[in-house]
Amino acid sequence: MLILGIETSCDDTAAGIVEDGRLLAHVVASQDIHLEYGGVVPEFASRAHLTLLPRVIAEVFAKADRPIAAIDAVAATIGPGLVGSLLVGLEFAKGFAQARGIPFVGVNHVEAHLLSPGIEQDLPFPYLGMVASGGHTEIYHVTDAASVRRLGSTRDDAAGEAFDKVGKLLGLPYPGGPHVDRLAREGNPDAFAFPVARLGNDNLDVSFSGLKTAVKLAVEREKSPMSEGRIRDVAAATERAVVNALIERLALALDRHPSKAIAIAGGCACNTLLRREAGRLAGERGIPAVFPSPALCRDNGAMIAFAGWHARRRGIVTPVTASVVPNLDAFPHA
Ligand code: KG4
Ligand code: ZN
Repeated sequence: MLILGIETSCDDTAAGIVEDGRLLAHVVASQDIHLEYGGVVPEFASRAHLTLLPRVIAEVFAKADRPIAAIDAVAATIGPGLVGSLLVGLEFAKGFAQARGIPFVGVNHVEAHLLSPGIEQDLPFPYLGMVASGGHTEIYHVTDAASVRRLGSTRDDAAGEAFDKVGKLLGLPYPGGPHVDRLAREGNPDAFAFPVARLGNDNLDVSFSGLKTAVKLAVEREKSPMSEGRIRDVAAATERAVVNALIERLALALDRHPSKAIAIAGGCACNTLLRREAGRLAGERGIPAVFPSPALCRDNGAMIAFAGWHARRRGIVTPVTASVVPNLDAFPHA
């Protein structure tokens, strides 16, 4: 079964092709236009998807070395995401499916991230999955691809958003996450004591808005301009606060929900300290910690094709009358 997956929920135009659950090829075109604005400009994003998507599709077929006629089903992200951006990928996918007379499958972007650690590595069910990105910080117990339960989520900012806001306070380029990671490697995390909100032991939610305020106040107390060394220290202390909060919740979740692996996806799954600490926690529990490779941690089309493949294996078809759901919360196939 050959599945084409299309992802255009935010500012990456991406496609992937999966054959019988195995990734053949994927292509991501990032949109540089947003860099000078310090954030994604929705109108620019949807226009860029319109120009980039046909090229990305042509390239993914060339890389996969499969003819268009061989595709058995098309999957696309229906939400959550930016309405104009989602529409470009969804309408393209529906048109493709109708023209070829094959099924269309609408995929939840977060569900696709959650399943994505299983693309490149063996991922045993049930696993404890976390999606940590610029828009999401959620923990799930995944019994199998058809049975997913959300255990906790962020009450305010997503983990990536917290890194990006601190990056902005430190004058780093957008998005700040990768820069905070790089600088933190040479910083002293003990130089600042940033708070990690504790919401009690009876729930698995996290909260990062207090951290952002604490960092802002600390930066304001520093001499201006801040020295390179102090910037590294703020980065290291921020990273430790965010990672500690996530690891604490994962540990609590493992106590309550027996799992055969920890799987982390989304842009923040690239973070050096998170990978190390999740690896340590998993090691203590005698299970593996599974992360996608960096290209598949970020938004990509491979995960949409993979989630579409899981859905098609169960015979799922989405009616072509379906439209985008920018604030989609439910997992339609779980
Ligand atoms: O999954 P993603 O590419 O897009 C969505 O938000 O869906 O995630 C992007 C987020 C950004 O907030 C970025 O700062 C963060 O992931 N990020 C990182 C790292 N690489 C990307 N955060 C911490 N450390 C990193 N190495
Ligand atoms: Zn994402």
